[in-house]
Amino acid sequence: MSRSEEESTSNLMKKKGLGWIEWLRGWFNVIYEMLFQRIMASHLENPMPLPPLPQDFTCIITGSTSGIGREIARQLAEAGAHVVMAVRNTKAAHELILKWQHDWSGKGLPLNIEVMELNLLSLDSVARFAEAWNARSGPLHVLINNAGIFSIGEPQKISKDGFEEHMQVNHLAPALLSVLLLPSLIRGSPSRIVNVNSIMHQVGFVDTEDMNVVTGKRKYTSLVGYSGSKLAQVMFSSVLHKRLPAEAGISVVCVSPGIVQTNVARDLPKIVQTGYRLIPYFIFSPEEGSRSALFAATDPQIPEYCEMLKSDEWPVGAFISQECRPTNPSEEAHNLETSSRVWEKTLEMIGLPSDTVEKLVEGQDVKCKYGSDDSHQD
Ligand SMILES: NC(=O)c1ccc[n+]([C@@H]2O[C@H](COP(=O)([O-])OP(=O)(O)OC[C@H]3O[C@@H](n4cnc5c(N)ncnc54)[C@H](OP(=O)(O)O)[C@@H]3O)[C@@H](O)[C@H]2O)c1
Repeated sequence: MSRSEEESTSNLMKKKGLGWIEWLRGWFNVIYEMLFQRIMASHLENPMPLPPLPQDFTCIITGSTSGIGREIARQLAEAGAHVVMAVRNTKAAHELILKWQHDWSGKGLPLNIEVMELNLLSLDSVARFAEAWNARSGPLHVLINNAGIFSIGEPQKISKDGFEEHMQVNHLAPALLSVLLLPSLIRGSPSRIVNVNSIMHQVGFVDTEDMNVVTGKRKYTSLVGYSGSKLAQVMFSSVLHKRLPAEAGISVVCVSPGIVQTNVARDLPKIVQTGYRLIPYFIFSPEEGSRSALFAATDPQIPEYCEMLKSDEWPVGAFISQECRPTNPSEEAHNLETSSRVWEKTLEMIGLPSDTVEKLVEGQDVKCKYGSDDSHQD
Protein backbone atom coordinates (compact mmCIF):
# COMPACT_ATOMS: atom_id res chain seq x y z
CA MET A 1 0.00 0.00 0.00
CA SER A 2 1.36 3.42 -0.92
CA ARG A 3 1.94 6.10 1.73
CA SER A 4 -1.00 8.18 0.54
CA GLU A 5 -3.27 5.08 0.58
CA GLU A 6 -2.09 4.30 4.12
CA GLU A 7 -2.81 7.87 5.19
CA SER A 8 -6.28 7.85 3.69
CA THR A 9 -7.07 4.45 5.33
CA SER A 10 -5.85 5.82 8.65
CA ASN A 11 -7.97 8.95 8.15
CA LEU A 12 -11.01 6.76 7.44
CA MET A 13 -10.34 4.79 10.61
CA LYS A 14 -9.92 7.94 12.72
CA LYS A 15 -12.41 8.09 15.52
CA LYS A 16 -15.05 10.78 15.13
CA GLY A 17 -16.22 10.72 18.75
CA LEU A 18 -16.54 8.53 21.82
CA GLY A 19 -18.19 5.16 21.28
CA TRP A 20 -21.56 4.99 23.03
CA ILE A 21 -20.30 2.53 25.66
CA GLU A 22 -17.38 4.87 26.47
CA TRP A 23 -19.79 7.81 26.54
CA LEU A 24 -22.22 6.02 28.89
CA ARG A 25 -19.36 4.89 31.13
CA GLY A 26 -18.03 8.46 31.22
CA TRP A 27 -21.39 9.89 32.27
CA PHE A 28 -21.87 7.09 34.81
CA ASN A 29 -18.55 8.08 36.41
CA VAL A 30 -19.44 11.80 36.40
CA ILE A 31 -22.82 11.14 38.09
CA TYR A 32 -21.26 8.64 40.50
CA GLU A 33 -18.69 11.26 41.57
CA MET A 34 -21.45 13.84 41.97
CA LEU A 35 -23.53 11.57 44.22
CA PHE A 36 -20.90 9.69 46.18
CA GLN A 37 -17.81 11.92 46.36
CA ARG A 38 -18.45 12.77 50.02
CA ILE A 39 -18.72 9.09 50.97
CA MET A 40 -15.66 8.14 48.89
CA ALA A 41 -13.63 10.95 50.49
CA SER A 42 -14.91 10.37 54.04
CA HIS A 43 -11.45 9.14 55.13
CA LEU A 44 -9.94 12.57 54.37
CA GLU A 45 -9.58 15.32 56.95
CA ASN A 46 -10.72 18.82 56.13
CA PRO A 47 -8.70 20.95 55.86
CA MET A 48 -6.08 18.53 54.63
CA PRO A 49 -3.16 18.53 57.10
CA LEU A 50 -0.01 19.68 55.32
CA PRO A 51 3.56 19.05 56.43
CA PRO A 52 5.51 22.19 57.42
CA LEU A 53 7.07 23.46 54.18
CA PRO A 54 10.47 25.20 53.93
CA GLN A 55 10.36 28.97 53.36
CA ASP A 56 12.19 28.56 50.07
CA PHE A 57 9.68 25.98 48.79
CA THR A 58 8.21 27.97 45.90
CA CYS A 59 4.78 27.30 44.43
CA ILE A 60 3.14 29.13 41.53
CA ILE A 61 -0.65 28.81 41.53
CA THR A 62 -2.72 30.09 38.63
CA GLY A 63 -6.27 31.33 39.20
CA SER A 64 -5.72 31.79 42.93
CA THR A 65 -8.20 34.66 43.39
CA SER A 66 -11.23 32.39 43.56
CA GLY A 67 -12.56 28.94 44.45
CA ILE A 68 -10.18 26.00 44.63
CA GLY A 69 -7.06 28.00 43.69
CA ARG A 70 -7.67 30.52 46.45
CA GLU A 71 -7.77 27.70 49.01
CA ILE A 72 -4.66 26.03 47.58
CA ALA A 73 -2.70 29.30 47.78
CA ARG A 74 -3.78 30.16 51.33
CA GLN A 75 -3.09 26.69 52.71
CA LEU A 76 0.32 26.34 51.07
CA ALA A 77 1.29 29.79 52.40
CA GLU A 78 0.10 28.90 55.89
CA ALA A 79 2.20 25.72 55.72
CA GLY A 80 5.24 27.98 55.19
CA ALA A 81 5.74 27.91 51.40
CA HIS A 82 6.64 30.87 49.20
CA VAL A 83 3.46 31.30 47.18
CA VAL A 84 3.19 33.13 43.87
CA MET A 85 -0.36 34.01 42.90
CA ALA A 86 -0.37 34.03 39.08
CA VAL A 87 -3.59 35.86 38.33
CA ARG A 88 -5.24 38.26 35.92
CA ASN A 89 -6.94 40.29 38.67
CA THR A 90 -3.91 41.45 40.64
CA LYS A 91 -5.95 43.92 42.73
CA ALA A 92 -8.15 41.09 44.04
CA ALA A 93 -5.03 39.04 44.85
CA HIS A 94 -3.46 41.90 46.85
CA GLU A 95 -6.70 42.32 48.79
CA LEU A 96 -6.77 38.61 49.59
CA ILE A 97 -3.18 38.71 50.83
CA LEU A 98 -4.03 41.57 53.22
CA LYS A 99 -6.95 39.55 54.57
CA TRP A 100 -4.92 36.35 54.93
CA GLN A 101 -2.05 38.18 56.69
CA HIS A 102 -4.57 39.71 59.08
CA ASP A 103 -6.27 36.35 59.83
CA TRP A 104 -2.86 34.67 60.25
CA SER A 105 -1.28 37.28 62.53
CA GLY A 106 -0.13 35.83 65.83
CA LYS A 107 -0.14 32.26 64.45
CA GLY A 108 3.35 32.21 62.92
CA LEU A 109 5.74 34.06 60.62
CA PRO A 110 4.01 36.45 58.16
CA LEU A 111 2.85 34.63 55.03
CA ASN A 112 5.30 34.73 52.14
CA ILE A 113 3.04 35.51 49.17
CA GLU A 114 3.55 37.58 46.06
CA VAL A 115 1.42 38.40 43.02
CA MET A 116 2.34 38.22 39.34
CA GLU A 117 0.08 39.08 36.45
CA LEU A 118 -0.95 36.26 34.11
CA ASN A 119 -3.81 36.21 31.64
CA LEU A 120 -4.31 32.78 30.11
CA LEU A 121 -6.41 34.25 27.31
CA SER A 122 -3.19 35.76 25.96
CA LEU A 123 -0.33 33.42 25.07
CA ASP A 124 1.92 36.50 24.98
CA SER A 125 1.05 37.09 28.65
CA VAL A 126 1.89 33.44 29.45
CA ALA A 127 5.25 33.58 27.68
CA ARG A 128 6.12 36.93 29.28
CA PHE A 129 5.24 35.52 32.71
CA ALA A 130 7.58 32.56 32.14
CA GLU A 131 10.36 34.83 30.82
CA ALA A 132 10.09 37.04 33.92
CA TRP A 133 10.09 34.05 36.23
CA ASN A 134 12.97 32.22 34.55
CA ALA A 135 15.01 35.47 34.56
CA ARG A 136 15.13 35.26 38.36
CA SER A 137 17.28 32.11 37.90
CA GLY A 138 15.76 30.62 41.05
CA PRO A 139 14.14 27.25 41.62
CA LEU A 140 10.47 26.46 41.20
CA HIS A 141 9.20 23.51 43.23
CA VAL A 142 5.51 23.31 42.31
CA LEU A 143 3.50 24.73 39.43
CA ILE A 144 -0.25 24.33 39.97
CA ASN A 145 -2.21 24.92 36.78
CA ASN A 146 -5.52 25.56 38.46
CA ALA A 147 -7.19 28.42 36.55
CA GLY A 148 -10.00 27.29 34.30
CA ILE A 149 -13.28 28.30 32.71
CA PHE A 150 -16.55 26.53 32.00
CA SER A 151 -18.72 29.05 30.15
CA ILE A 152 -21.92 27.08 30.45
CA GLY A 153 -24.57 27.93 27.89
CA GLU A 154 -22.55 30.73 26.30
CA PRO A 155 -21.92 30.96 22.56
CA GLN A 156 -18.54 29.83 21.29
CA LYS A 157 -15.78 32.36 21.87
CA ILE A 158 -12.46 32.53 20.06
CA SER A 159 -9.51 34.20 21.82
CA LYS A 160 -7.44 36.93 20.18
CA ASP A 161 -4.81 34.22 19.63
CA GLY A 162 -7.37 32.42 17.47
CA PHE A 163 -8.26 29.50 19.76
CA GLU A 164 -11.53 28.33 21.28
CA GLU A 165 -11.48 29.83 24.77
CA HIS A 166 -11.95 26.63 26.83
CA MET A 167 -9.15 25.00 24.86
CA GLN A 168 -6.89 28.03 25.37
CA VAL A 169 -7.52 28.68 29.10
CA ASN A 170 -7.85 25.05 30.25
CA HIS A 171 -5.23 23.39 28.06
CA LEU A 172 -3.07 25.45 25.66
CA ALA A 173 -2.02 28.23 28.04
CA PRO A 174 -1.22 25.86 30.96
CA ALA A 175 0.72 23.64 28.51
CA LEU A 176 2.78 26.65 27.36
CA LEU A 177 3.37 27.75 30.95
CA SER A 178 4.46 24.26 32.03
CA VAL A 179 6.90 23.82 29.15
CA LEU A 180 8.41 27.31 29.39
CA LEU A 181 8.90 26.96 33.15
CA LEU A 182 10.81 23.66 32.78
CA PRO A 183 14.21 25.36 33.35
CA SER A 184 13.02 26.70 36.72
CA LEU A 185 11.35 23.38 37.60
CA ILE A 186 14.61 21.57 36.81
CA ARG A 187 16.45 23.99 39.15
CA GLY A 188 13.85 23.16 41.84
CA SER A 189 13.99 19.40 41.24
CA PRO A 190 12.46 17.27 42.68
CA SER A 191 9.56 19.40 41.50
CA ARG A 192 6.00 18.94 40.32
CA ILE A 193 3.50 20.15 37.78
CA VAL A 194 -0.03 19.71 39.12
CA ASN A 195 -2.92 20.19 36.68
CA VAL A 196 -6.34 20.73 38.21
CA ASN A 197 -8.33 18.63 35.78
CA SER A 198 -11.86 17.25 36.04
CA ILE A 199 -13.91 14.05 36.02
CA MET A 200 -15.59 15.70 33.00
CA HIS A 201 -12.57 14.70 30.86
CA GLN A 202 -14.26 11.28 30.83
CA VAL A 203 -17.00 12.58 28.52
CA GLY A 204 -14.54 14.58 26.43
CA PHE A 205 -13.21 13.88 22.95
CA VAL A 206 -10.41 15.61 21.07
CA ASP A 207 -10.40 15.84 17.28
CA THR A 208 -6.82 16.88 16.63
CA GLU A 209 -7.78 18.23 13.22
CA ASP A 210 -10.40 20.44 14.80
CA MET A 211 -9.17 21.35 18.29
CA ASN A 212 -11.20 24.59 18.17
CA VAL A 213 -14.45 22.79 17.18
CA VAL A 214 -15.04 25.18 14.28
CA THR A 215 -15.23 22.97 11.20
CA GLY A 216 -18.83 21.90 11.87
CA LYS A 217 -17.81 18.20 12.08
CA ARG A 218 -19.03 18.33 15.69
CA LYS A 219 -21.58 20.76 17.05
CA TYR A 220 -20.01 23.14 19.56
CA THR A 221 -21.48 23.35 23.07
CA SER A 222 -19.72 24.61 26.19
CA LEU A 223 -19.73 20.99 27.42
CA VAL A 224 -17.90 19.84 24.27
CA GLY A 225 -15.41 22.71 24.71
CA TYR A 226 -14.82 22.12 28.43
CA SER A 227 -14.62 18.31 28.45
CA GLY A 228 -12.43 18.25 25.31
CA SER A 229 -10.00 20.77 26.81
CA LYS A 230 -9.71 18.72 30.00
CA LEU A 231 -9.09 15.50 28.01
CA ALA A 232 -6.47 17.31 25.90
CA GLN A 233 -4.71 18.31 29.13
CA VAL A 234 -4.66 14.69 30.38
CA MET A 235 -3.24 13.49 27.05
CA PHE A 236 -0.61 16.24 26.84
CA SER A 237 0.41 15.61 30.47
CA SER A 238 0.86 11.89 29.78
CA VAL A 239 3.24 12.61 26.89
CA LEU A 240 5.12 15.30 28.87
CA HIS A 241 5.50 12.83 31.75
CA LYS A 242 7.01 10.27 29.37
CA ARG A 243 9.28 12.74 27.58
CA LEU A 244 10.83 14.09 30.77
CA PRO A 245 13.81 11.93 31.71
CA ALA A 246 14.02 10.69 35.32
CA GLU A 247 17.11 12.93 35.84
CA ALA A 248 14.98 16.04 35.28
CA GLY A 249 13.18 15.13 38.53
CA ILE A 250 9.82 16.61 37.53
CA SER A 251 6.57 14.80 38.34
CA VAL A 252 3.54 15.61 36.20
CA VAL A 253 0.18 14.94 37.84
CA CYS A 254 -3.46 15.62 36.91
CA VAL A 255 -6.04 15.78 39.68
CA SER A 256 -9.81 15.83 39.93
CA PRO A 257 -11.01 18.22 42.67
CA GLY A 258 -14.51 16.71 42.80
CA ILE A 259 -17.69 18.69 42.24
CA VAL A 260 -17.06 21.94 44.07
CA GLN A 261 -19.15 25.02 44.91
CA THR A 262 -17.12 27.83 43.32
CA ASN A 263 -17.46 30.61 40.78
CA VAL A 264 -16.93 28.09 37.97
CA ALA A 265 -20.72 27.82 37.71
CA ARG A 266 -21.15 31.60 37.55
CA ASP A 267 -22.67 31.33 34.07
CA LEU A 268 -25.26 28.74 35.06
CA PRO A 269 -28.88 29.89 35.03
CA LYS A 270 -29.83 31.37 38.44
CA ILE A 271 -32.27 28.53 39.11
CA VAL A 272 -29.53 25.89 38.69
CA GLN A 273 -27.17 27.92 40.93
CA THR A 274 -29.88 27.97 43.60
CA GLY A 275 -30.27 24.21 43.19
CA TYR A 276 -26.52 23.87 43.76
CA ARG A 277 -26.84 25.68 47.06
CA LEU A 278 -29.79 23.55 48.13
CA ILE A 279 -27.79 20.35 47.92
CA PRO A 280 -24.70 21.26 49.94
CA TYR A 281 -24.32 17.70 51.18
CA PHE A 282 -23.29 16.48 47.73
CA ILE A 283 -21.08 19.38 46.74
CA PHE A 284 -17.61 20.01 48.15
CA SER A 285 -16.58 23.34 49.65
CA PRO A 286 -13.53 24.94 47.97
CA GLU A 287 -11.48 23.76 50.98
CA GLU A 288 -12.57 20.17 50.35
CA GLY A 289 -12.01 20.61 46.61
CA SER A 290 -8.44 21.78 47.19
CA ARG A 291 -7.36 18.53 48.87
CA SER A 292 -6.41 16.50 45.78
CA ALA A 293 -4.21 19.32 44.40
CA LEU A 294 -2.59 19.89 47.81
CA PHE A 295 -2.00 16.14 48.11
CA ALA A 296 -0.43 16.00 44.63
CA ALA A 297 1.74 19.03 45.45
CA THR A 298 3.08 17.77 48.77
CA ASP A 299 2.70 14.02 49.30
CA PRO A 300 6.20 12.46 49.46
CA GLN A 301 5.16 9.35 47.50
CA ILE A 302 4.09 11.23 44.35
CA PRO A 303 7.54 11.29 42.63
CA GLU A 304 7.99 7.57 43.30
CA TYR A 305 4.53 6.84 41.90
CA CYS A 306 5.24 8.86 38.73
CA GLU A 307 8.56 7.07 38.24
CA MET A 308 6.87 3.70 38.67
CA LEU A 309 4.33 4.55 35.95
CA LYS A 310 7.19 5.64 33.70
CA SER A 311 9.28 2.52 34.21
CA ASP A 312 6.23 0.27 33.70
CA GLU A 313 5.62 2.11 30.42
CA TRP A 314 2.03 2.71 31.52
CA PRO A 315 0.21 4.55 28.69
CA VAL A 316 -0.99 7.45 30.88
CA GLY A 317 0.58 9.68 33.50
CA ALA A 318 -0.48 10.08 37.13
CA PHE A 319 -4.10 11.01 37.83
CA ILE A 320 -5.24 11.61 41.42
CA SER A 321 -8.93 11.39 42.26
CA GLN A 322 -10.94 13.75 44.44
CA GLU A 323 -10.42 11.30 47.33
CA CYS A 324 -6.63 11.59 46.90
CA ARG A 325 -6.08 8.13 45.44
CA PRO A 326 -4.29 7.22 42.22
CA THR A 327 -6.87 6.45 39.57
CA ASN A 328 -7.09 5.77 35.87
CA PRO A 329 -8.22 8.53 33.51
CA SER A 330 -10.78 7.70 30.79
CA GLU A 331 -10.37 4.94 28.21
CA GLU A 332 -9.92 7.59 25.49
CA ALA A 333 -7.03 9.10 27.49
CA HIS A 334 -5.22 5.78 26.93
CA ASN A 335 -5.33 6.26 23.15
CA LEU A 336 -1.60 6.63 22.46
CA GLU A 337 -2.01 7.67 18.85
CA THR A 338 -4.37 10.53 19.71
CA SER A 339 -2.24 11.57 22.70
CA SER A 340 0.79 11.83 20.48
CA ARG A 341 -1.17 13.90 17.93
CA VAL A 342 -2.49 16.12 20.75
CA TRP A 343 1.12 16.65 21.85
CA GLU A 344 2.31 17.63 18.36
CA LYS A 345 -0.69 19.80 17.61
CA THR A 346 -0.49 21.56 20.98
CA LEU A 347 3.18 22.45 20.50
CA GLU A 348 2.33 23.78 17.05
CA MET A 349 -0.55 25.88 18.41
CA ILE A 350 1.50 27.35 21.27
CA GLY A 351 4.33 28.20 18.90
CA LEU A 352 7.05 25.84 20.15
CA PRO A 353 9.28 23.49 18.13
CA SER A 354 8.62 19.75 18.46
CA ASP A 355 11.94 19.10 20.26
CA THR A 356 11.34 21.83 22.87
CA VAL A 357 11.32 19.58 25.91
CA GLU A 358 14.49 17.74 24.91
CA LYS A 359 16.28 21.06 24.27
CA LEU A 360 15.17 22.62 27.55
CA VAL A 361 16.21 19.52 29.50
CA GLU A 362 19.67 19.77 27.89
CA GLY A 363 19.86 23.42 29.01
CA GLN A 364 19.50 24.87 25.51
CA ASP A 365 17.38 27.93 24.66
CA VAL A 366 14.11 27.58 22.78
CA LYS A 367 12.39 30.28 20.76
CA CYS A 368 8.67 30.69 21.27
CA LYS A 369 6.35 32.46 18.85
CA TYR A 370 4.78 34.25 21.81
CA GLY A 371 6.34 36.51 24.41
CA SER A 372 8.92 39.25 24.08
CA ASP A 373 9.02 41.28 20.86
CA ASP A 374 12.40 39.64 19.96
CA SER A 375 10.86 36.17 19.88
CA HIS A 376 8.09 37.40 17.56
CA GLN A 377 10.70 38.12 14.89
CA ASP A 378 11.49 34.42 14.49
N1 LIG B 1 -15.80 23.68 40.67
C1 LIG B 1 -15.88 22.44 40.19
O1 LIG B 1 -16.88 21.73 40.44
C2 LIG B 1 -14.76 21.87 39.38
C3 LIG B 1 -14.84 20.52 39.01
C4 LIG B 1 -13.81 19.97 38.27
C5 LIG B 1 -12.73 20.75 37.91
N2 LIG B 1 -12.68 22.06 38.27
C6 LIG B 1 -11.50 22.84 37.86
O2 LIG B 1 -10.95 23.50 38.98
C7 LIG B 1 -10.21 24.64 38.52
C8 LIG B 1 -10.54 25.82 39.40
O3 LIG B 1 -11.89 26.20 39.18
P1 LIG B 1 -12.87 26.74 40.31
O4 LIG B 1 -13.96 25.75 40.41
O5 LIG B 1 -12.13 27.09 41.52
O6 LIG B 1 -13.48 28.01 39.54
P2 LIG B 1 -13.44 29.57 39.83
O7 LIG B 1 -13.90 29.85 41.21
O8 LIG B 1 -14.19 30.16 38.71
O9 LIG B 1 -11.91 29.93 39.71
C9 LIG B 1 -11.26 29.97 38.47
C10 LIG B 1 -10.02 30.81 38.56
O10 LIG B 1 -9.42 30.82 37.26
C11 LIG B 1 -9.14 32.17 36.92
N3 LIG B 1 -9.16 32.43 35.49
C12 LIG B 1 -10.19 32.28 34.63
N4 LIG B 1 -9.84 32.71 33.39
C13 LIG B 1 -8.56 33.15 33.50
C14 LIG B 1 -7.66 33.72 32.58
N5 LIG B 1 -7.99 33.96 31.31
N6 LIG B 1 -6.42 34.05 33.01
C15 LIG B 1 -6.07 33.85 34.29
N7 LIG B 1 -6.89 33.31 35.22
C16 LIG B 1 -8.13 32.97 34.82
C17 LIG B 1 -10.22 32.98 37.61
O11 LIG B 1 -9.79 34.33 37.70
P3 LIG B 1 -10.87 35.54 37.73
O12 LIG B 1 -11.41 35.53 39.12
O13 LIG B 1 -10.03 36.72 37.37
O14 LIG B 1 -11.92 35.20 36.70
C18 LIG B 1 -10.29 32.27 38.95
O15 LIG B 1 -9.30 32.73 39.83
C19 LIG B 1 -10.58 24.82 37.07
O16 LIG B 1 -9.54 24.32 36.27
C20 LIG B 1 -11.83 23.96 36.90
O17 LIG B 1 -12.00 23.49 35.59
C21 LIG B 1 -13.67 22.64 39.00
